[in-house]
Amino acid sequence: MSVHQSASATQARMTVPQVMARKGAEPLVCLTSYHAHTARLIDPFVDILLVGDSLGMVMYGMESTLGVTLDMMIAHGAAVMRGADSALVVVDMPFGTYEESPSQAFHNAARVLKETGCQAVKLEGGARMAETVHYLTQRGIPVMGHIGLTPQNVNVMGGFKTQGRDAAQWPEIEADAAALAEAGAFAIVLEGIAEPLADRISGQVGVPTIGIGASAGCDGQILVTEDMLGLNPNVPKFVKEFATLGQQIANAARSYAEEVRARRFPDKAHTSSMKTVIDNDPPNRVATKGKN
Ligand code: KIV
Repeated sequence: MSVHQSASATQARMTVPQVMARKGAEPLVCLTSYHAHTARLIDPFVDILLVGDSLGMVMYGMESTLGVTLDMMIAHGAAVMRGADSALVVVDMPFGTYEESPSQAFHNAARVLKETGCQAVKLEGGARMAETVHYLTQRGIPVMGHIGLTPQNVNVMGGFKTQGRDAAQWPEIEADAAALAEAGAFAIVLEGIAEPLADRISGQVGVPTIGIGASAGCDGQILVTEDMLGLNPNVPKFVKEFATLGQQIANAARSYAEEVRARRFPDKAHTSSMKTVIDNDPPNRVATKGKN
């Protein structure tokens, strides 16, 4: 049975046209997800789950997203698909798997869709990627664009810097958004873009914009789930922490360690007794209850 024929495929899942219909309407709620447990927990509350290549840093402790491979994205994408049954699942194309040519991008994006069962891919880059976005969308692969601060470009940008704070940068970033929309992207992530420019682009393009470190005026918002849960000790300025799970995890580990060292864990409630009574005297003799 292919991933597309699984039982969950019969349940109502958000679709690409439904996402596009949210342009200028109710904001799209998006979060990243990398594994089945959290996907299951957050799926009922979001419209889109992005299996972002930020997993390189969050899950693997890498310095940047550049070391993330297609196989990693496929493994995590499939895990998220197993955990979530209502959100649209989008999987990031990692660095080096789509930039060379439209056919390279198609070959790898088709693998992602086939092997995870996800609904769409995301790739970074504006006007320079328009031909590829057109090629993919014409061949059945929905594409989410991603412009502004594009982390795969970190070495060219010289760091993670907010884009468009200088008005001289605006025309190029606006042209990137327009080129992606024209090429057929169904939505565009605006990452690390000065608020007025993000508002302006959202008013210009006909597809939903999804902001991260951009503006509440975008058609939707996305955050890295671990950041908003309070698991990252160094969150960027634009992240609001909606929970303090990092502290809770440390507290839980401390309590566990104390109980193990004091032999308070496992207690009676967390161990199993025998169906039969063990008679230790003489050793190794097992007596069945009621007998003897
Ligand atoms: O990789 C990722 O998590 C992303 C989001 C931050 C948009 O691309």
